Amino acid sequence: MQEKLIDGKLVSAHLREKLTKEVKELKASGITPGLVVILVGEDPASQVYVRNKERASRRLGMNSGTIQLPAGTDERELLSQIDRLNNDPACHGILVQLPLPAHINEKKVLMHIRPEKDVDCFHPQNVGKLVAGDPYVLPCTPAGILEMLKFYKIQTAGRHAVIAGRSNIVGKPMANLLVQKNDTANCTVTVVHSRTPDIAAFSRSADILIAAIGKPRFFKADMIKEGAVVIDVGINRIGADNEKGYRLVGDVDFDDVLPKVSMITPVPGGVGPMTITMLLFNTVTVARHTN
Ligand SMILES: NC(=O)c1ccc[n+]([C@@H]2O[C@H](COP(=O)([O-])OP(=O)(O)OC[C@H]3O[C@@H](n4cnc5c(N)ncnc54)[C@H](OP(=O)(O)O)[C@@H]3O)[C@@H](O)[C@H]2O)c1
Repeated sequence: MQEKLIDGKLVSAHLREKLTKEVKELKASGITPGLVVILVGEDPASQVYVRNKERASRRLGMNSGTIQLPAGTDERELLSQIDRLNNDPACHGILVQLPLPAHINEKKVLMHIRPEKDVDCFHPQNVGKLVAGDPYVLPCTPAGILEMLKFYKIQTAGRHAVIAGRSNIVGKPMANLLVQKNDTANCTVTVVHSRTPDIAAFSRSADILIAAIGKPRFFKADMIKEGAVVIDVGINRIGADNEKGYRLVGDVDFDDVLPKVSMITPVPGGVGPMTITMLLFNTVTVARHTN
């Protein structure tokens, strides 16, 4: 089983080691990469993500800050916080933790972040560059998946990649990246979603299946091609008889598909650790280029 695992923690550790060196070099030349995360409200899952991001960036020697705003914060106040960070030379990356409370216009907020500091690649200018094959930075989760494919020397060229899910965060940018004409892509790409009538008909022909639908253990062995590479992006809580009362599972039924796949990411310990690492990577990249 070990030889089939795509270990996100391992790939992440390799990248973070390189990043630590790079941060040291940047600091020696007077630049400390800085990331600021804005969190509106008290959503417990978001608070955990934000804490993890802050801890990870500090470990690398970067400057890291969190702006915690109450759930009732009005849009104008949030935009003025972003204005301040847009003009702060010590802040290289701005990340607004999603989802935002319903009274705040998410699109407007994401548009307000200076594209040069958009380390999540959500600004339309950066999305456009990505689609055109000339990316500024890559969106964190899809970028982490590409790094894992590269690390394990998984061939992408000419292979059929099926992406389940079409969100702006995962599915759409993943499809855009894998269809590009370059060494880490060149795939034939199919995107399936909730309006696709027979998902198994597509997933069964996937050489590389990327599952990002948020449905616990949706993909079973009979939906997977023999020898496929499976990347499980899903993070779903299911009830469990433990202290927390839940455990995390992916969108793929790991135990069921394991005998059939050539390689697979576990949940947790697969895509998750890579997402944060790529956020740090993007912040360091921006710091290197803007100073
Ligand atoms: N590991 C990480 O770092 C990381 C990062 C981001 C997200 N995630 C996880 O990845 C999962 C997806 O996240 P997301 O933000 O992309 O979610 P999302 O915005 O809710 O999008 C889910 C997508 O899946 C599709 N879908 C939902 N149910 C489906 C079904 N039964 N069959 C086929 N397609 C279905 C939806 O189709 P429609 O478009 O038709 O509605 C939508 O395109 C979640 O579990 C999330 O927690 C993990």
